[in-house]
Amino acid sequence: MKVLVTGGAGFIGSNFVRHLVNEHSMECVVLDKLTYAGRRENLQDVETEITLIEGDICRREDVDKAIQGCSFVVNFAAETHVDRSVIEAGSFVLTNVFGTYTLLEACRKHDVEKFVHISTDEVYGHILEGSFKEEDRLSPRNPYAASKASADLLCKAFFETYNLPIVIARSTNNYGYYQHPEKLVPKTIIYALLNREIPVYAQGENVRDWIFVEDTCEALSLILHKGETGQVYNIAGKQEFTNIQVVQTILRIMDKPESLIQFVKDRPGHDIRYSLDIQKIKQLGWKPKTKFEDGIRKTIEWYKTNRWWWTTIIQAQEIDFHHKFT
Ligand SMILES: NC(=O)c1ccc[n+]([C@@H]2O[C@H](COP(=O)([O-])OP(=O)(O)OC[C@H]3O[C@@H](n4cnc5c(N)ncnc54)[C@H](O)[C@@H]3O)[C@@H](O)[C@H]2O)c1
Repeated sequence: MKVLVTGGAGFIGSNFVRHLVNEHSMECVVLDKLTYAGRRENLQDVETEITLIEGDICRREDVDKAIQGCSFVVNFAAETHVDRSVIEAGSFVLTNVFGTYTLLEACRKHDVEKFVHISTDEVYGHILEGSFKEEDRLSPRNPYAASKASADLLCKAFFETYNLPIVIARSTNNYGYYQHPEKLVPKTIIYALLNREIPVYAQGENVRDWIFVEDTCEALSLILHKGETGQVYNIAGKQEFTNIQVVQTILRIMDKPESLIQFVKDRPGHDIRYSLDIQKIKQLGWKPKTKFEDGIRKTIEWYKTNRWWWTTIIQAQEIDFHHKFT
């Protein structure tokens, strides 16, 4: 069974490709535009076992080439950083909406058996108490979330209209190996290693649910194999922390002072809390295994021993969004 993984050179995508190759001996084709967030290095340990095609999900020719002979498609390809979407939303609409549409059309043409679309808890908007269920209404509050919600609706429309076998997986915040340093967990670890100030929005009171990426990969693998078409499955670690708690936990484990924390002006439309109900995927046979503290320790260790991976990114790229744009 051959799987096309779009966006497979990014954070979750590369972990998922590794999971499919190592745990399920599956044949994988990766289609990735290799934007600032996607890197060949993320797949170097499996590069001889996969086919990596550099290409764009918005380009039909690229998708037609990559999808040849694939029975399954899993779509991770997206613009993913909310802060960037607040500054420039066009690329989010293009890749996340039009790119998903292009993939859906290709899946129709090539009679794909299942299209798994990776979505986010952000499509529901924020929730002060309780947790969102899969059938709750979508109410995105930032351009990234709106583009992801639009893609979800397109997937559902293709299921209803053309009976295309889609499944949507909505996950909470992932952390783990190969995550780009612009995101909270790697940024905190790397800045702490460099003894640099760690920017935290407002007073860091926004709450997120955190899931270790290996747990997500197991959930997605189950959805790929057993998920019912036309359905949505929430995925969460069921471990909620404020952003400041996340940063404090990392600093404590790394034995670094909290004086590194620098509170900065909040971003517009910053959702207060996300939370997902996971009863549905539990019934399918999955639950999160990794305790936050354990997953964070593994993640810190990975960033400590893989300096080569992030040093070039830090040098080359504009990760200081807080300083530049707030
Ligand atoms: N990271 C999280 O916490 C999280 C949580 C919920 C949902 N998600 C979703 O999971 C998916 C993967 O997230 P991630 O954190 O791994 O993202 P990422 O930014 O690390 O990786 C995205 C990948 O998509 C590729 N890409 C971007 N535009 C493309 C295009 N037009 N054509 C082909 N490839 C393209 C990039 O090169 C990169 O490899 C996304 O759809 C995201 O919305 C992520």
